[in-house]
Amino acid sequence: MATKIGNVDIPGVTVLAPLAGVTDHAFRTLCREQGASMAVTEMVSARGLAEGSERSSEYLDFDEHEHPISVQVFGSEPEILADGAQVIAERKPDMIDLNCGCPVKKIVTRNAGAALLKDPPLLGRIISAMVQAVDVPVTLKIRSGWEDADEAVRVAQVAEDAGASAIAVHGRTREAKFTGQANWDIIARVKQATSIPVIGNGDVRNPELAKEMMDVTGCDLVMVGRWAIGNPWIFKGIETFVATGEKVPDPVLSDKIEMAVRHLHLSVAAKGPRKGVFEMRRPLAAYIKGIPGAAQYRQALMTEDDADGVERLLYVILEEQTQSVEVMG
Ligand SMILES: Cc1cc2nc3c(=O)[nH]c(=O)nc-3n(C[C@H](O)[C@H](O)[C@H](O)COP(=O)(O)O)c2cc1C
Repeated sequence: MATKIGNVDIPGVTVLAPLAGVTDHAFRTLCREQGASMAVTEMVSARGLAEGSERSSEYLDFDEHEHPISVQVFGSEPEILADGAQVIAERKPDMIDLNCGCPVKKIVTRNAGAALLKDPPLLGRIISAMVQAVDVPVTLKIRSGWEDADEAVRVAQVAEDAGASAIAVHGRTREAKFTGQANWDIIARVKQATSIPVIGNGDVRNPELAKEMMDVTGCDLVMVGRWAIGNPWIFKGIETFVATGEKVPDPVLSDKIEMAVRHLHLSVAAKGPRKGVFEMRRPLAAYIKGIPGAAQYRQALMTEDDADGVERLLYVILEEQTQSVEVMG
């Protein structure tokens, strides 16, 4: 089942998607422990790195246990991306990924992210410059197009010719942002049109959908983003289901609370008590999603800014939920 990206062995089929504000060291650690075969960092500015910004370089912090890891970079100028890639390569990641999918205005008005889909020759020059600048494989992550899904095939071919080692395809156009359903057909078309590994992405919510995406598109790896937030177990579920057809039991509330507490500790250890707690708000809401009274619990968690307080609240939630099940039982 293993796929090779350049010279790097990916042991299974799952990849944690780059998610700005989410796939930090703490979350990547948990997803790797729960079976993700590889993780991608949050995107980092090539210009920031090339100019020596300390804030940008914080995105490059990862541990030995995180290999294989890919660092994602964004930008629009070949020389600056080559310089940025060199700074990243000094930290010895396994590969470097070029962001060609970010739909956010601030990024596309600077000709970066999904704007690169409109200019395949420029994208080719960027990939070439990065490939020449570093020894690790260079990959890219695209959307299906700017407005039109056909753009992906041309972009993928240009990128392969320029030396890209793999391509991740999110089956939505820039225009669609996150609306509607991901178009998996474009993933299949990119797979047919290229000979580098293709990573399928978009709306993989569970192991069955991961297997279906692989069967329907022929993609080599499956990338999971939003559906991993508050649910790092999804990776073990997919790896097991794709390899054996067996379903791993879903986590119960005590598993979720313990994971949330561990996530909190890792976040605070990496970012300090203030930022570490603040940046847990989105994941905490995801861990308790769907339980009775989730809205009130979320409200309480969002207004607590002390790590011990958050931990206490999490255990109160567990206790209250366990008692209410006992009463009902
Ligand atoms: C909060 C958030 C942040 C994201 N940040 C990035 C990013 O930094 N780089 C990138 O290539 N894609 C980014 N994406 C897109 C995801 O990587 C992925 O392509 C998208 O969510 C579709 O996959 P999913 O359906 O599994 O979530 C982001 C998506 C979300 C929801």
